[in-house]
Amino acid sequence: MKNKFVKVSAALTAFLMICAGTSCGKVDQKKDDKKVVVSGTEDSEKNNASDHSDADSTTDNSDKTTDPSENQTGTVPGTTDKKGHTASGSDKPVSGQPSGTVPNGSSGTGNSRNGSQITDISLTFYEVTLPIGGSKMPIVTMLPADAPDKGEIWTSSDESVAIVDAYGNITGVGEGNCTVTVASSANPEVKANVNVKVETAPDVPVADGVTYIDGILIANKTYALPASYNPGGLTGECSAAFQQLVNGAAADNINIYLSSGFRSYDYQAQIYNNYVAMDGQANADTYSARPGHSEHQTGLAIDCNIIDDSFTGTPEAIWLENHCHEYGFIIRYPKSKESITGYKYEPWHIRYLGVEKAKAVHDSGLCLEEYLNITSQYNY
Ligand code: DAL
Ligand code: ZN
Repeated sequence: MKNKFVKVSAALTAFLMICAGTSCGKVDQKKDDKKVVVSGTEDSEKNNASDHSDADSTTDNSDKTTDPSENQTGTVPGTTDKKGHTASGSDKPVSGQPSGTVPNGSSGTGNSRNGSQITDISLTFYEVTLPIGGSKMPIVTMLPADAPDKGEIWTSSDESVAIVDAYGNITGVGEGNCTVTVASSANPEVKANVNVKVETAPDVPVADGVTYIDGILIANKTYALPASYNPGGLTGECSAAFQQLVNGAAADNINIYLSSGFRSYDYQAQIYNNYVAMDGQANADTYSARPGHSEHQTGLAIDCNIIDDSFTGTPEAIWLENHCHEYGFIIRYPKSKESITGYKYEPWHIRYLGVEKAKAVHDSGLCLEEYLNITSQYNY
């Protein structure tokens, strides 16, 4: 009874904060992580808010986002992972395996004798540059679609440069170049390669505990702001740019308004702690920043309009997606970048960079971490 009361109180507090337009919202968001494709079609039904946290995905390859429930490929990854396990002996359970599929790693059973052999493998990317500790996973399509065994064998040509796990998640280990290869377990001569370049993190100037990279103030899971960092509100430049954005939207009959702007370290701590009490830390870390790690503390981030998933796909969200860079803002936590930014998709959270940089980031199609080649992961 007491526990229930605590939960209800926490929920109520959080709800009130959202109503007051002060929290950076979380409501039952769906993840949209990179996934492996079965027969050329993505399985979109796996990404509930209750899934493993995105935060895990960038921190430790052994605890990555691509948990077994997300690898609903109908295939059984079959390679040696960084722990030296084979897929059949992996600590990751095998899920989604259609009956009759030959597990990878089963000796002497790699070839499918009934039905089509794999003849082609395509990937969503063939080149990638990663920072040390950064991860990225291509989506795999094995053809023909009706092949009964779409098992994958992933290998790295140089594990001192990059490792790859049984699901194809590639993680930078040390500076250099290497090739990551996926082969069909049923037909191992059919392969596809990813050229991987791993770079050391850029030199990061830190003044008074504040991090700038390429002139951009960074607050993410890797780079924190000191508790004392307090611009006292949105910066003048950010406020002025936001007013321009609001005016530009209005000219297109779109109503954009500020729901949450500057948040102090202490205020972010309250918000975050409420979410942890309500939802557990692993979940909270996928949508709420720990104190010191929120962009709202920079005075350069704004949550617009409705701070929950119901904002996704609205005319206002689409307008922001298409136009905010013209006013110097970027959608900071884009869809499909969850494992890189460390946060679920937030179509309402825009970050001011100035017009030139915002356009460059927008036009690159990259999220800010990719653009700057930095990580976003907690080390505590
Ligand atoms: N929702 C974003 C990540 C924040 O809490 O700053
Ligand atoms: Zn926000």
